Amino acid sequence: MITLGIETSCDDTGVAVLRNEREVVCEFLSSQIKDHSRFGGVIPEFAARKHLENLLPLVDTALKEAGISGHDLDLIAVTRGPGLMGSLIVGVMTARALSQAWDVPLIGVNHLEGHLFAPLVDAEDLEPPFLSLIVSGGHTEIIRVDSFGEYELLGQTRDDAAGEAYDKAARILGLKYPGGPEIERLAKNGDPHAFDFPVPLRNTDKVEFSFSGLKTALLWQAKKFEGADVPVNDLCASFQRAVTEALMSKVRLAVKMTGIRKVSASGGVSANGALREALGNARDFRAWLPGLSRCTDNAVMIAMAGRNSWLRGNRGGDVVPNPSLESCE
Ligand code: KG4
Ligand code: ZN
Repeated sequence: MITLGIETSCDDTGVAVLRNEREVVCEFLSSQIKDHSRFGGVIPEFAARKHLENLLPLVDTALKEAGISGHDLDLIAVTRGPGLMGSLIVGVMTARALSQAWDVPLIGVNHLEGHLFAPLVDAEDLEPPFLSLIVSGGHTEIIRVDSFGEYELLGQTRDDAAGEAYDKAARILGLKYPGGPEIERLAKNGDPHAFDFPVPLRNTDKVEFSFSGLKTALLWQAKKFEGADVPVNDLCASFQRAVTEALMSKVRLAVKMTGIRKVSASGGVSANGALREALGNARDFRAWLPGLSRCTDNAVMIAMAGRNSWLRGNRGGDVVPNPSLESCE
């Protein structure tokens, strides 16, 4: 079974060809980070226009690389939401047109279910039940996966997502977008205990997150140094420690509440070295992490999630973009 995956929910145009469950025939990603970083964040209209320029040539390249034509595909899987409306429209409408032209069935994929599948691409030994920590620019949540398609949202963020917090913190410190990788880079030369930032909601007995207060704490701390040398490395290291501890404390709580001792992580923030180390060293559960390139948005995870959903019998009629889809709907 050959699946073409298409991802355009935010600022990355992703196309991948997947053979059967997890054999990645080829994958391409056209990142717009350079285009958007000069604005300090993603400009939605600009992102949509870039997808329009990039998507069809990438599909063409992917099919050539795979040595197949569109008619050889068995399924097209495209992200239908959540995400930026303009970006989603380009992906979904292109996928619909290709599906008609090649007479290939089409399935819409929830971007979050896509992230949930990312660690599975390289991990044949990860099977439900497991807990999935999704930490991206738009979402921070823990999902209980009893079987594929059977998901329970155990808890999520009350305000900012973890990636959003990294991006906002970077902006406060005058660093470039996206903030996560920049903060991680500078944190390597900083002291994680230089500043005692609060670990949000650490002691509540609910699986929930909150990062907006932490961002404000960073802002006030940085302001104290105005006019003097700002200890950026220490601020980054201390901020990263607080985010990591907040995530880890709720993963441990979810493990304790459910008795499930298998945890996967995905989404852009799962590329963070401090979080990967903390998850990898945990004693109360085993962690599965995607390779670094599959933490952030990509089309392989969409192809894999779409194929799985199709084989579970999901059809769902016309695929329509939905920017505000909830967790794994
Ligand atoms: O999953 P993703 O590519 O897009 C969304 O679906 O949102 O995640 C992007 C987010 C950005 O906020 C970015 O700052 C964050 O992931 N991120 C990181 C790292 N790499 C990307 N955060 C912390 N450390 C990183 N190494
Ligand atoms: Zn994402």
